[in-house]
Amino acid sequence: MLIPWLLLGLAGDCFAKIYEDVSDLPGLDYDFVIVGAGAAGNVVANRLTENPSFSVLVLEAGVSNEGVIDSIVPFFWRNLSAGPNIYEWNYTTTPQVGLNNRSIPYSRAHILGGCTSHNTMIYTRGSAEDYNRWADVAKDPGWSWDSLLPYFFKNEKWTPPADNHDTRGEFNPAVHSTHGINSVSLSGSRWPIFENQVIQTTREFPKEFPFNLDYNSGEPLGVGWLQSTIGGGKRSSSATSYLGPKFIQRPNLHVLLHAQVSRLVRPQTTKGVVTFGGVEFSQGGSLFTAKATKEMILSAGSIGTPAILLHSGVGDKKALTALGITSVLDLPSVGQNATDQPATFNAWSWSVNSTQTLDPIERNATLFNEAYAQWNATHTGPFTNFGATHIAWTRLDANSTIFETVTDPAAGPKTPHIEILLVWPWFREFHYLWDDYAHSDQSARIPSTPPLIDPGFLATDFDLFAARESIKRAFRFVEAPVWKDYIIAPTVNLLNMSTDALDEFIRNITSSAGHMTSTAAMSAKDASYGVVNPDLLVKGARGLRIIDASIIPFIPSAHTQAATGGPDTSDYLAHRGTAL
Ligand SMILES: Cc1cc2nc3c(=O)[nH]c(=O)nc-3n(C[C@H](O)[C@H](O)[C@H](O)COP(=O)(O)OP(=O)(O)OC[C@H]3O[C@@H](n4cnc5c(N)ncnc54)[C@H](O)[C@@H]3O)c2cc1C
Ligand SMILES: *[C@@H]1O[C@H](CO)[C@@H](O)[C@H](O)[C@H]1NC(C)=O
Ligand SMILES: *[C@@H]1O[C@H](CO)[C@@H](O)[C@H](O)[C@H]1NC(C)=O
Ligand SMILES: *[C@@H]1O[C@H](CO)[C@@H](O)[C@H](O)[C@H]1NC(C)=O
Ligand SMILES: *[C@@H]1O[C@H](CO)[C@@H](O)[C@H](O)[C@H]1NC(C)=O
Ligand SMILES: *[C@@H]1O[C@H](CO)[C@@H](O)[C@H](O)[C@H]1NC(C)=O
Ligand SMILES: *[C@@H]1O[C@H](CO)[C@@H](O)[C@H](O)[C@H]1NC(C)=O
Ligand SMILES: *[C@@H]1O[C@H](CO)[C@@H](O)[C@H](O)[C@H]1NC(C)=O
Ligand SMILES: *[C@@H]1O[C@H](CO)[C@@H](O)[C@H](O)[C@H]1NC(C)=O
Ligand SMILES: *[C@@H]1O[C@H](CO)[C@@H](O)[C@H](O)[C@H]1NC(C)=O
Ligand SMILES: *[C@@H]1O[C@H](CO)[C@@H](O)[C@H](O)[C@H]1NC(C)=O
Repeated sequence: MLIPWLLLGLAGDCFAKIYEDVSDLPGLDYDFVIVGAGAAGNVVANRLTENPSFSVLVLEAGVSNEGVIDSIVPFFWRNLSAGPNIYEWNYTTTPQVGLNNRSIPYSRAHILGGCTSHNTMIYTRGSAEDYNRWADVAKDPGWSWDSLLPYFFKNEKWTPPADNHDTRGEFNPAVHSTHGINSVSLSGSRWPIFENQVIQTTREFPKEFPFNLDYNSGEPLGVGWLQSTIGGGKRSSSATSYLGPKFIQRPNLHVLLHAQVSRLVRPQTTKGVVTFGGVEFSQGGSLFTAKATKEMILSAGSIGTPAILLHSGVGDKKALTALGITSVLDLPSVGQNATDQPATFNAWSWSVNSTQTLDPIERNATLFNEAYAQWNATHTGPFTNFGATHIAWTRLDANSTIFETVTDPAAGPKTPHIEILLVWPWFREFHYLWDDYAHSDQSARIPSTPPLIDPGFLATDFDLFAARESIKRAFRFVEAPVWKDYIIAPTVNLLNMSTDALDEFIRNITSSAGHMTSTAAMSAKDASYGVVNPDLLVKGARGLRIIDASIIPFIPSAHTQAATGGPDTSDYLAHRGTAL
């Protein structure tokens, strides 16, 4: 009986399929070549290799996630995205007029798993209306909420929280699935005073802040318990889940790290349809070309994907020709319509009369080490979370003056405009995230290294109106009587400011939520704009698909990883892809 076990162990080693060096790959010809191993790429790599007759190569520019402690301990999430480090692309935006011309950091992960290996792990799907709008725009009912729910379920593996607490009343089991791949759970440690006061607020202000048992039901409005892509007290990324031990052993799945794709090569045009002959990538200063006999699949993210397309001659013909790049496919929407959600994280907070906060852990090395030791020993305790307990989703008033001049950008009346993230009193603070729907048409039309990133923050009257309103809503939340003896004072009294001063403050402190979408957007087959058709094949090309957040036609009213890795783009595509 010993021998088979030994053999299995050895076989396991031989079949470790994450390669660091191109010369270790058996070859460069595959059925499918996937570019970028993030929220989307790893899902499709996993699904396609369910079919043992398909061979798949995943090319990822970044480094390994193996043993990267900051990517494993949920509490350490900020260490990877804050400032330049080897897990980052280190991007900054173009000067943002709406932000007093500041260029701000624009975080993108450079590690296996993409942004799912360093993001905030918040699991939010958005509203049913968000997806029904996708279906309308695409003229394809396959993109509606009802059609996509099974794909959210294939993605999600609902998991008990790290502390195994009784979760009844904190979520609706009917809208979750325990049979998916990426772990999702409720908070793994308790902050009873704060949590009780949040819930009490929903009783005291039931009209403005009603309790919502589950904001992932398709109807997010209200205050609900936070759900995160965390399992067993650890981050669950697309790398740890979709490329987990039982999948990465598949002999038909190869992942190559440190492989940065520059462009698609050897275009051939037959009867107006372009086919590319390969994917060019660099490693260690040399160039290589991988070939896909069935499909090349781009999933390099909302910045990486349009950059690759533009360098390949796929984009606005006039702009490319002017730069001396041969136009291969005239698709003016490539790199346009970048959409993101501005955030006011860390900008202000309230000091509170409570010791049940994170201050002690953050400021006292002894307590910090105790919490760390607990996490190391049992994957429990305060380090099993990133810091929030609930999310409040709310809308601007229907009679708001802004709607006299601006059409509501939300997908419908059950879709939020504003998100307030209720963070444990971390440094005695709440943090707020507000969302809007800034659209920029000034974003990158031209290829550039590094890419030009213009999310057009606070470019419109609506953006600023929603920003002011989100701050007022946050202050309103803590006006509920239950906070009376708890809140001492805001660190900045924003309600005191004139509108001009408040606007100035907002422009000074707004940053990105990291949710860029729509830079290679899906549109209906007969649309005069857009980059991919509803089957995610690039318009005017054969054998080339895009599956990442860049295809999203309208940003959902949510953090974007579930939309990207769930119904997406990706699981959905894999479903269709296996029929190829
Ligand atoms: C700081 C931060 C916090 C966030 N927090 C949350 C959150 O809490 N909840 C949530 O839902 N969403 C969150 N997001 C957003 C979410 O993570 C992204 O929307 C999602 O990961 C996008 O998936 P993607 O597959 O499109 O791209 P990514 O996940 O970015 O994956 C793209 C991959 O392609 C690789 N790549 C890029 N260019 C090339 C190239 N030329 N050659 C080879 N490889 C390449 C990248 O290295 C990367 O691994 C956050 C994002 C950031 C930046
Ligand atoms: C990682 O994050 C934790 C929590 O925010 C912080 O206390 C710690 O100092 C960080 N470590 C590094 C190396 O930055
Ligand atoms: C980002 O910056 C860090 C520190 O300067 C550097 O080590 C890393 O290589 C940079 N990332 C990329 C993708 O260049
Ligand atoms: C931002 O830059 C634009 C264009 O250069 C300029 O017109 C504007 O005055 C600047 N705004 C601020 C606040 O400096
Ligand atoms: C941007 O998106 C809007 C709405 O979907 C669309 O009407 C417009 O044509 C898009 N612009 C480009 C350049 O693709
Ligand atoms: C804090 O709360 C305690 C009671 O719990 C009270 O005695 C004290 O005065 C409060 N302090 C402040 C600054 O409000
Ligand atoms: C830090 O926490 C430890 C353990 O609770 C405690 O003994 C110590 O007094 C604290 N130090 C400070 C400076 O508060
Ligand atoms: C926890 O484990 C990490 C390595 O995995 C180590 O760096 C750290 O010092 C440990 N911390 C404690 C307090 O045990
Ligand atoms: C909008 O309606 C509410 C009552 O529903 C009212 O309190 C508020 O003043 C109105 N706002 C405006 C701008 O008319
Ligand atoms: C500003 O707010 C403080 C309370 O935080 C209050 O005492 C003061 O009167 C306010 N000032 C103005 C000008 O409204
Ligand atoms: C905004 O930032 C500028 C430049 O740092 C500073 O002079 C100004 O006081 C800030 N305004 C507000 C309201 O914070």
